[in-house]
Amino acid sequence: MARTIIEPFRIKSVEPIRWTTREQRKVLLRAAHYNLFLLPAADVLIDLLTDSGTGAMSTHQWAAVMEGDESYAGSKSFDRFRASIQDIFGYRHVIPAHQGRAAERILFGVTCKKGDVVPNNTHFDTTRANVEFVGAEAVDLVIPEGRQPANRHPFKGNMDIAALRELIARVGSERVPLVMLTVTNNSGGGQPVSMENARQVSAVCREHRIPLYFDACRFAENSYFIKLRESGYESKTPKQIAQEMFGYGDGCTMSAKKDGMANIGGFLCTNDDLLAQQQKDLLILTEGYPTYGGLAGRDLEAIAVGVQEALEEDYLRYRIASTAYLGNHISEQGVPIVQPPGGHAIYLDARAFLPHIPRDQFPGVALAAELYLEGGIRSVEIGSLMFGSAAKMDLVRLAIPRRVYTQSHVDYVVEVILEVWRKRDSIRGLRLVYEAPFLRHFTAKLEPVTAKA
Ligand code: F0G
Repeated sequence: MARTIIEPFRIKSVEPIRWTTREQRKVLLRAAHYNLFLLPAADVLIDLLTDSGTGAMSTHQWAAVMEGDESYAGSKSFDRFRASIQDIFGYRHVIPAHQGRAAERILFGVTCKKGDVVPNNTHFDTTRANVEFVGAEAVDLVIPEGRQPANRHPFKGNMDIAALRELIARVGSERVPLVMLTVTNNSGGGQPVSMENARQVSAVCREHRIPLYFDACRFAENSYFIKLRESGYESKTPKQIAQEMFGYGDGCTMSAKKDGMANIGGFLCTNDDLLAQQQKDLLILTEGYPTYGGLAGRDLEAIAVGVQEALEEDYLRYRIASTAYLGNHISEQGVPIVQPPGGHAIYLDARAFLPHIPRDQFPGVALAAELYLEGGIRSVEIGSLMFGSAAKMDLVRLAIPRRVYTQSHVDYVVEVILEVWRKRDSIRGLRLVYEAPFLRHFTAKLEPVTAKA
């Protein structure tokens, strides 16, 4: 039998992409102040900025879009949305929201107050910001292996159970309104959490009567990693695995822009009736009535179909294989990446790639700028520009949109990265010339460092 893992779809509608010359990119890069967020998307050839909201919908999703019931209250689309989500997640209440961070804002707004502490394997930046916005402290407790780029631990997203126990003992369980597990662990390299770890975190939470919530953005990819890597799960379906994992928790937040296979949307789930009531009250204030939560009926339909498609094995096999394909082809040539390849993205280790560029000259931003200059590829820095001096690593994330690029696109990306790898000694650092007071990476302006001062 042929062994090549192919894209499990045919292409029905195409979106042209635009070539630019190196000379043009040089000018565009300068105009964008070396910050790829400031580039017009039309000037990007392969856009790996994010896997969020950038996926291609299926024929089934587009057909469902036409079934969208746009009634303000009690829409049929909401019933289908809730039924599909409950089938996988199993929680009593399903509250729609316009995207993941809206669900986070509502969850933390209702459960947390000043002085509280929220442990997570690793908070995503919006999750951290929403915890801090209500005056609580966000604490990252990923296992030590999760902070070592070259370490090949199969579940680098796991939470450090001893550290969780220690934290609860130190601050007291009354100050921990909930524990969160992010599956997969995006900020730590798109790395999965094992079922065993979820079970252990859940046990600690139950012992202390603390609710466990999942940040479920990439739950399908996490389920497939469990199937591939954890004994006892080889013959379970990704859906059965997801159902078991969510059974260990009390609720979740979800950005449907990732494994919801939609371009917009999210939701919040909980088993707590009182909390659900408070959350819906808050929802009406900012997002909309609880049967649409800031989404159109057609969006609810796309998500109802999308969460199920994300769990299809043919899709997940291709998805995980294509991300690994990119990671393996560059790491074989010596390019330092976070190992093993994650689910939705490959993370280049910019400190190891460009050891001659000091951290205060943003090696990750310099590398991202060079990838654009060389081949029109857009990636994103996760490091010193994003987190300031608190950054533990300087990474460049190449996030793969779902069902969008083919293997030849990925081959092209491999060639461009290897070309930049050969030229690495000539890449220079950058200096910050403008920064906003918070979330500075979105709008920062930089310029190349010239002669030594
Ligand atoms: N949690 C995780 C783990 C995420 O990766 C994201 C978004 C969110 C929450 C927030 O969801 O964007 O729908 O409000 N991550 C995107 C990314 C933006 O590029 O990784 P959102």
